[in-house]
Amino acid sequence: MRQSLTGLRAIAATGAALALSAGIILSANAQSAAPAPAPAPAPAARAGGAGPSLTKQAIETRKAAYALIGNYFRQLGAVAKGTAPYDEADATKRIARIAFLSSLPGEAFPDVSNVGEPDTKAKADVWTNRADFDKRLKDFQAHAAALVQVNATEKGATDGFKAAVVALGEDCKGCHDTYKVK
Ligand code: HEC
Repeated sequence: MRQSLTGLRAIAATGAALALSAGIILSANAQSAAPAPAPAPAPAARAGGAGPSLTKQAIETRKAAYALIGNYFRQLGAVAKGTAPYDEADATKRIARIAFLSSLPGEAFPDVSNVGEPDTKAKADVWTNRADFDKRLKDFQAHAAALVQVNATEKGATDGFKAAVVALGEDCKGCHDTYKVK
């Protein structure tokens, strides 16, 4: 408990608003007789608007989402090329995750996150060609949803499955060629 309070105070030192919200948590914890559950300084900090800046949060969110999308997609690409066998359970899991993850980047490109390298590989064109970029985000989601459907009905590396994977892969490449620093 003492350690977590110390931790809270250390984090609180990063900003006045955070110090205030941490203080509220500290006094709330001090008043409760039962041992406090896992300390929750970070969510409280974010809810209060302190903690990592909006810029940093947005960049971290999209990088994390894309990194996971990349991890889950790689094997599907290999299956579509015929260099890896199709496994229904594995493919279904990967595709479901990609479909969910495809919804995250859309909220992770606020204007304040147009800061260029070294913090982000997103080119400034994302914000100057916003309508085109948003359309690519939408197409990507639509193609991910289509792949969910195709996989559910075909349950195999059919031509339809391969075409749906290729369509998704073309979204990655098309967007990266235009909007991502190499
Ligand atoms: C609508 C545009 C768009 C689409 C579609 C897209 N990406 Fe990206 N991707 C980006 C941008 C922009 C970045 C750079 C993000 C940054 O650095 O802030 C990125 C970054 C990445 C990264 C690096 C993440 C990191 O760790 O920094 C990977 C991996 C990646 N994308 C994989 C994929 C894969 C795989 C697909 C398709 C299945 C895909 N992306 C689809 C725009 C897109």
